[in-house]
Amino acid sequence: MGSITNIVDIDSELATQTPQEILQYALENHDNIAISFSGAEDVVLIDMAHKLGKDLQVFSLDTGRLHAETYRFIEQVRKHYNIDIDVVYPEASRVEKLVKEKGLFSFYDGDHKECCGIRKIAPLRKQLLTVDAWITGQRRDQSPGTRAAVPVMQDDKAFARPDDKLTKFNPLANWTSKQVWDYIRENNVPYNELHDKGFISIGCEPCTRPTGPGQHEREGRWWWEEATLKECGLHAVNIQK
Ligand code: ADX
Ligand code: SF4
Repeated sequence: MGSITNIVDIDSELATQTPQEILQYALENHDNIAISFSGAEDVVLIDMAHKLGKDLQVFSLDTGRLHAETYRFIEQVRKHYNIDIDVVYPEASRVEKLVKEKGLFSFYDGDHKECCGIRKIAPLRKQLLTVDAWITGQRRDQSPGTRAAVPVMQDDKAFARPDDKLTKFNPLANWTSKQVWDYIRENNVPYNELHDKGFISIGCEPCTRPTGPGQHEREGRWWWEEATLKECGLHAVNIQK
């Protein structure tokens, strides 16, 4: 893949295409590419990629604090699509130190960045050292504050190896939540049972709650914090402008 100008050009070409076409482009142009699967409605990416008939690399970051329903769902997806899912764990000694010094719910006392840093970002950084490109389920409509400009393809400087390039694809960037859910229903895609219990956006159990009528899905995440802080750093490129 060439220069950054190229990435911007290709991004604007891909921007008018369907998620399936974007995925196809991503999988055809990168041998070492992985889907970052959260265990929520981003399962549509796995379904679409599976239908394209490509070998899939999928990983999930297990923070140790996911809902039981999410663990069950990740397992269901593994079996349903007969795929390997690399479940990636944080470094035990760092989690132990955090919990010993600050307890199991330190995120409620300050911001969540320290816990997310140890349980999500460090493992993601390590995982991304092993690939040339990654695919996420980010959408623009997920967060007016931080995701309104998410492109379908971008140069991920936040997680690239030193002096190397990491490309990030967000094939669902231009889809709405409704389009995702229409796809899930029309294609009988398995989904996390939490979605039937009022959850729209799903993260870690202590930091996610269901949303009520009229609330934006992001309001169920880190609800005790300012809306502008509701990024954990997985998508650092969104806030490094
Ligand atoms: S987060 O940054 O606020 O946690 P969000 O839940 O909106 O992210 O999910 C957006 C995308 O980030 C997902 O579609 C997925 O690609 C990636 N992601 C989020 N959480 C995880 C996780 N635990 N494991 C792997 N990928 C994840
Ligand atoms: Fe920790 Fe909450 Fe971040 Fe999960 S979402 S890693 S529990 S602060």
